[in-house]
Amino acid sequence: MSLFDELEQIRTAALQALDEAATREELEAWEKRTLGRKGAVTLQTRSIGKLPPEERPAFGQRINVIKQELEAIYTTRAQAMRHAELTRELAGGAVDVTLPGRPVTPGHLHLTTQTLRQLYDIFARMGFEVYESPDVELETYNFDLLNIPAYHPARDMWDTFWVDDQRLLRTHTSPGQIRAMRERAPEPLRVILPGKCYRYEQITARSEHQFYQIEGLAVGRNITMTDLIGTLRQFTSLFYGAERQTRVRSSYFPFTEPSIEVDIDCILCGGKGCPVCKYTGWLEICGAGMVHPVVLENGGYDPAAWSGFAFGLGVERPAMMKYHVKDIRYFYGNDLRFLRQF
Ligand code: DAH
Repeated sequence: MSLFDELEQIRTAALQALDEAATREELEAWEKRTLGRKGAVTLQTRSIGKLPPEERPAFGQRINVIKQELEAIYTTRAQAMRHAELTRELAGGAVDVTLPGRPVTPGHLHLTTQTLRQLYDIFARMGFEVYESPDVELETYNFDLLNIPAYHPARDMWDTFWVDDQRLLRTHTSPGQIRAMRERAPEPLRVILPGKCYRYEQITARSEHQFYQIEGLAVGRNITMTDLIGTLRQFTSLFYGAERQTRVRSSYFPFTEPSIEVDIDCILCGGKGCPVCKYTGWLEICGAGMVHPVVLENGGYDPAAWSGFAFGLGVERPAMMKYHVKDIRYFYGNDLRFLRQF
């Protein structure tokens, strides 16, 4: 029998065996036996060498045609079998393809981040850019250059987390004022300095040992207290609502002169007096003032030609007022029952 006849016989036998394969296992065994690396059809390529050269191309082509034919039938049968199996499983109730997938629970921004972004947005509208400064700060930036003398209560060792004898965790965002001024002088500047501050303090419902502040600083040729008050009024009306009243009281900070504190009428009682405002009708929202000449000079500006205002806002406290959160510790507790409300 010629090699060509032998090849045709292998084809006929393979077609018949394929027809007889009744299960997936049998079908797979057939595939291995016939078309696998050592399968009957595959092995036929070895016989090519035994043929006279002029017959070899025709033989090789015939093998390829047979391979393709068998593969096509095999694939169709395998798919049909898989389909039948799935249909059986479905009918038996094993899988319900109509069941919805497992829900992915989307997270959302923390209330602190949401508040920070609201504040960025409000001050961006008034031309303030965000300027970041380090959490681990030099003592000189945190205190000396801000005109805070060694006897100031904020320098009390119990208020400050020291890293070594020159470095500390900033107790407020004010040191960023010096950094921003030194980078920009002698150009006018308008920045907000957001960030975490740290104080070695007792944790209570009203104070944490870590909290956020946003500092504001504007330096220019003709900046006055009116600009400061106008900026803060705009802020209170955009953040707390246009109906809020503001009032300004004189105050003291080493790095501003004159210094003020700004209050809004109590959000809860509208100024009538309640436990939240301690029956004063007012809530303090920030400290502020005109940048002290010494501080301007430390920042690289000539106080005879330049003036500026600064303010320091909390972030958690305003959020507590706006959203009626009673305890600052919730901000750091990671309790989903709290976080999911915002
Ligand atoms: N640094 C002050 C504090 O943490 C807050 C402050 C008050 C900042 C007045 C200012 C300011 O820029 O002008 O208590």
